[in-house]
Amino acid sequence: MSDAIVESAAATAGDKETGASRFVRACLRRPVDRTPVWFLRQAGRYMPEYMAVRKHHSLLEICRTPEIAAEVTITAAERLDVDAAIIFADLLLPFTPMGLDFEFVAGEGPVVHTPVRTLEHVKALRTDRVEELQYVARAIEKVATHFSAPRADGDTLGIIGFCGAPWTLAGYMIEGGKQGGGDRNYIETKKMMYSYGPAWSLLMEKIVTVLVAYVQQQIEAGADVIQVFDSWVGKLSVRDYRQYCLGWTTELVQRIKALGVPVIYFGVETASLLPAMSETGADVIGLDWRTPLEEGWKAVGAGCAVQGNLDPIALFAQEDVLKEQVREILNGAAGRPGHIFNLGHGIVPGTPVENVIRVVELVRELSAR
Ligand code: CP3
Repeated sequence: MSDAIVESAAATAGDKETGASRFVRACLRRPVDRTPVWFLRQAGRYMPEYMAVRKHHSLLEICRTPEIAAEVTITAAERLDVDAAIIFADLLLPFTPMGLDFEFVAGEGPVVHTPVRTLEHVKALRTDRVEELQYVARAIEKVATHFSAPRADGDTLGIIGFCGAPWTLAGYMIEGGKQGGGDRNYIETKKMMYSYGPAWSLLMEKIVTVLVAYVQQQIEAGADVIQVFDSWVGKLSVRDYRQYCLGWTTELVQRIKALGVPVIYFGVETASLLPAMSETGADVIGLDWRTPLEEGWKAVGAGCAVQGNLDPIALFAQEDVLKEQVREILNGAAGRPGHIFNLGHGIVPGTPVENVIRVVELVRELSAR
């Protein structure tokens, strides 16, 4: 018997006692009966049920009304029959109690009205009103109650809370305007960062303080795992990430882990950044779709679990291509404990729901041990 199998058998016996879900076990690199699967942005605009709710409520209304946020979260997880539900919220919600006004402008994404550009602006940011974000925790409680009973296969659904990473949130705060386009150079953000003066360090410190308190509310409400989104970390060189961001991100990850839950750390265009990202000590690294899974796993090291990483646009492909790509990702993981199947970035509007459901079926079929 190989060492891996001996280790598997021992860990499985322990897990039966802890009763952790398949998803949480995979985050901790424990053996599972099959690869757990969920999707980034699984409750988004591609889904008719979400659009029906969206007709009557703005994005922020949905986020700030626990009944509606819980309903949207539950509907998506049940329709897709995935192994984890990510709470419906947005990265930018903590801006409001920090004193930064923003809105979602149709076709433009988030806009911060008075961007943070000076030390005085940073000093004015509040860190003492995180209680105002309790609506997210109330929504998590509702989702956790709904999914408290095991499903037909005996497994309990994992519940994911989330927050942004310091770099990605600072980018929205400092740039202020249209975000998410590949054309953005992050000039203002990098100017503040390169000065590495009191403005950058105070901003990073305030963001971490707010996020730890916010995430603690989510965990107390029932989040099993926290995902940290560093969506725009790929805009940084490895040297700049190491010099200006890694320390703060590590502090955030370590303080969340100290609250007793596994952390998934996800970024986009991270091929060169993966070894540094794994130094945060995150339990799981989310791989973007550009890196072959096996290569990505090598880059983060065997001490980390990995999540990913189908190209979200492959969901527009026909059955044989979809099956081939799902199979390749599962082959890349080779049944080693510690793989969570996901996309390598969020589902985009227009994605056929039936193809998303088909991927869940394929993962089940092809990964059963
Ligand atoms: O997975 C889910 O169930 C959705 C929950 C969710 C939302 N935002 C709701 C949302 C999550 C996990 C997020 C995180 C988030 N928010 C990220 C990181 C995720 C990633 O893809 O990297 C980022 C970068 C943001 C900031 C943000 N929010 C942007 C850039 C936009 C505009 C995007 C667009 O296409 O317009 C949003 C809006 C937003 N947040 C939408 C949803 C479902 C779509 C807009 C809507 O419904 O009106």
